[in-house]
Amino acid sequence: MKFECVPDAPRTLLHWTNEGRFAMDDPVAAQKSPYEVDVSAGKKYFWCACGRSARQPLCDGSHKDTGIAPVVFEAEETKTVYFCGCKATRKKPFCDGTHSSL
Ligand code: FES
Repeated sequence: MKFECVPDAPRTLLHWTNEGRFAMDDPVAAQKSPYEVDVSAGKKYFWCACGRSARQPLCDGSHKDTGIAPVVFEAEETKTVYFCGCKATRKKPFCDGTHSSL
């Protein structure tokens, strides 16, 4: 049996559970709009991809056992960015407007 990793899959991922079986988790929308965040040059940000973090839009470790991992973004310059809040963007970690069709 062959399984393929699809890192940019927008909705569903397969993963092993602690019970040793495959399971699927979907990202959940933290909100249906982007988060405006001022980022600093050279700093790394861990964008929550699962939607379960209490520190939106950043990771707090709540993705544990979901099969979903945060996306690392390192700011090249100090500026304002718009991180996706709906977790359905195809341009992770940034908003691409997908939320308007949810
Ligand atoms: S908030 Fe997810 S695409 Fe805009």
